[in-house]
Amino acid sequence: MKIGVLTGGGDCPGLNPVIRAVVRKSIQNGHEVVGFTEGWKGLLENKYIDLDVDAVSGILHRGGTILRSSRTNVYKVPNGEATIIKNMKESGIDALVAIGGEDTLGVATKLYKAGVKVVGVPKTIDNDLNATDYTFGFDTAVNIAMEAIDRLHTTAESHNRVMVVEVMGRHAGWIALHSGMAGGADIILIPEQPFKMDEVCEVLKKRHARGKNFSIVVVAEGAQWDTSDEKESMILQSQELDSFGHVRLGGIGNLLASEIEKRTGFETRATILGHVQRGGSPTAYDRVLGTRFGVFAAELVQKGDFGKMASLKGTEIVAVPLEAATGELKTVDQKLMDVAATFFG
Ligand code: F6P
Repeated sequence: MKIGVLTGGGDCPGLNPVIRAVVRKSIQNGHEVVGFTEGWKGLLENKYIDLDVDAVSGILHRGGTILRSSRTNVYKVPNGEATIIKNMKESGIDALVAIGGEDTLGVATKLYKAGVKVVGVPKTIDNDLNATDYTFGFDTAVNIAMEAIDRLHTTAESHNRVMVVEVMGRHAGWIALHSGMAGGADIILIPEQPFKMDEVCEVLKKRHARGKNFSIVVVAEGAQWDTSDEKESMILQSQELDSFGHVRLGGIGNLLASEIEKRTGFETRATILGHVQRGGSPTAYDRVLGTRFGVFAAELVQKGDFGKMASLKGTEIVAVPLEAATGELKTVDQKLMDVAATFFG
């Protein structure tokens, strides 16, 4: 078989371990592997590179993706689906391994229904993909954010300041929740639960009244200020939409910091972690998870079990239908949020 691999959507640490695992296992299974560059764009333009054992040597610890990535939506391109089917035929590609999040796997689901032999691997730092307990990339992002929170703690304390830390998380607050818990945040704000500015300020005032001279507020970029009695709503960095219809978020951290300072009188600073959370080497956890997902995906192809995605359930990797992964987003677990709230204020 000739197998095509691609990485789509926002990059994240752990993509290279998955590519390496798919290639190594598929070659052991007697197949040939090529990598399409820049996600679905590479397949639409028939641009690929050969992936042999040498090509994936030395990439396990490297962040990003050697195949590069894009947010190309096949179904927004005229004749996109037909072009992919034609290009696969012309290049003799028998099967595809699509590594990506909701958008990339959503395209894979539609292509599967159109007859393409495809399997998926779940990727996103946001951890908001359904049908898997964890996506690779999330653990690395959480550790980067936790380390930043640790560092902000010491400077916050030295200057009697409130530090607002804005982390990624468009529709789900997994990074905010986990990094905030691990970093000892005094408040965590997530997209799933719009917050009232006055309530946030009350918590901070009470904390400072009991003698604390600094606070850490962790906010997900998609958190929304509930302004039923005020004036703002979701904070957008840009009104521009990508080809999957997502707006670019960012800005809630600065807004929150200025409102907190205004309403409490506490000197406040904002730090936006942004794409730092997606850069650099994957953690050991993400290298192992990515490797397990990659080997499993290669085995799905070997068995001809298409239309499936590798998924982590407890400690096991299992196959789930691609469709189950992309129907609905996985939002944060309220029970975990309740545990985190024990330490607010
Ligand atoms: O989907 C992953 C993610 O990192 C989100 O957390 C974030 O909102 C978005 O991608 C940023 O996308 P871009 O790389 O296009 O700025």
